[in-house]
Amino acid sequence: MPNYPDVMDKLVSLCKRRGFVFQSSEIYGGTGSVWDYGPLGVELKRNLQDRWWRAMVRQRDDIEGLDSAILMHPRVWEASGHVSGFVDPLVDCRNCKRRFRADDEKIKGAPGTPDAQCPACGMKGTLSSPRQFNLMFKTFMGPVEDSAATIYLRPETAQGTYVNFLNVQQSTRQRIPFGIAQIGKAFRNEITPGNFIFRTREFEQMEMQFFVEPGTDEKWFEYWKEERMKWHQGLGLAPGRLQFHQHGENELAHYARAAFDVQFDFGGSLGFQEIEGIHNRGDFDLSQHQQFSGKKLEYFDHAGNKRYIPFVVETAVGPNRTLLALLVNGYREENVDGEAEGRTVLGLSPALAPIKAGVFPLVKKDGMPEIAHRIADDLRSAFPVFYDDSGAIGRRYRRQDEIGTPFCITVDGESSAANDVTVRDRDTLQQERIAIGRVREYIGERIAA
Ligand code: GAP
Repeated sequence: MPNYPDVMDKLVSLCKRRGFVFQSSEIYGGTGSVWDYGPLGVELKRNLQDRWWRAMVRQRDDIEGLDSAILMHPRVWEASGHVSGFVDPLVDCRNCKRRFRADDEKIKGAPGTPDAQCPACGMKGTLSSPRQFNLMFKTFMGPVEDSAATIYLRPETAQGTYVNFLNVQQSTRQRIPFGIAQIGKAFRNEITPGNFIFRTREFEQMEMQFFVEPGTDEKWFEYWKEERMKWHQGLGLAPGRLQFHQHGENELAHYARAAFDVQFDFGGSLGFQEIEGIHNRGDFDLSQHQQFSGKKLEYFDHAGNKRYIPFVVETAVGPNRTLLALLVNGYREENVDGEAEGRTVLGLSPALAPIKAGVFPLVKKDGMPEIAHRIADDLRSAFPVFYDDSGAIGRRYRRQDEIGTPFCITVDGESSAANDVTVRDRDTLQQERIAIGRVREYIGERIAA
């Protein structure tokens, strides 16, 4: 099995330098495991989210979209099992005050016993016994900060879908099997966040709940497993870096009957990690909400003249984590024939790249900047482009390679007379002369995939 290099530190630096991802509240020393997306990061994340929305909602007639609120009635989280079951076992070190998950592999011995050793300060006997720590962020609704006013920041978008199941079904007249998809923020007070944007306390989810007749759930589970793996491959993630991981009994979330993760190999010591979860949630959530709310959440099957609570097959992917996978997958450093300086390239698929083309005049004279500006203005109405006339042309190419721009258009001394430009391909470094009037179509075709 190939052991991919650890490129995380290089990516953190590139992301800050080029405006993909910044540490939240950096001027105050940062907020623990919360990140902001800069001009290029927000474009890349949006391209990813749009692609998911197109594949899951717009291009299908059996999935509807939804955008439910982050704040929900507190009983939702009692019904869903998150108040009692969304917990991680936590241990504290009395000496260095650090906190760990009790199942952290770096802890030697059983926490709470004299032999247990703190993985941070190395002291023995200072680790507390495990206690259950709920991962939901709590806050208060209204002016009174008491327990009656406690509400939670949602730890998954799925519950907003379950409580709207009948609203969506009845307003769209969908028949089972059908799905409801949404993209939105989720919050988890993770004990051990880290690895840049891999595990954070504020993140986004793209989740789809597919409602099916009980008994057909296993068939649909297989269907969605395959669909979702194909989607990840379509992003350009190397097939050899993707695999399924089946959850064993002790890994299953409290709501799941069966679960498979789509894992990506992040390289280095992180290796294969989950980027998406596919879960068979049975009728757990709808049954719980029916019981806790006292409102019927059954579906009436006209053809079969029967009522039932549907089963749910869920697909749940994180755009932040997938974005990190795309950066890791695409990052490469290489030598260029005939050049002393190597180059850093982000091999993002043209469809996802934040900027589709750099537009350069070879020199800042002889009418070249005017032609280049006209081309950039024309292309900008179709896709994002970047006009650059500063520094040597080689440097300008390198700057675009490093942010994953798939094409560079250069106006040179022949452009005015021949009415054409060179278009350079980021990966092959080949340059083609293309008529100025055809550039938009030429690039448009290549970024459509
Ligand atoms: N509704 C099911 C659910 O939330 P999950 O496996 O806990 O399932 C789904 O989360 C996806 O959300 C994960 O595969 C991951 O991509 C993303 N995710 C979960 N926790 C995250 C975190 N702390 N930081 C970033 N992404 C996270």
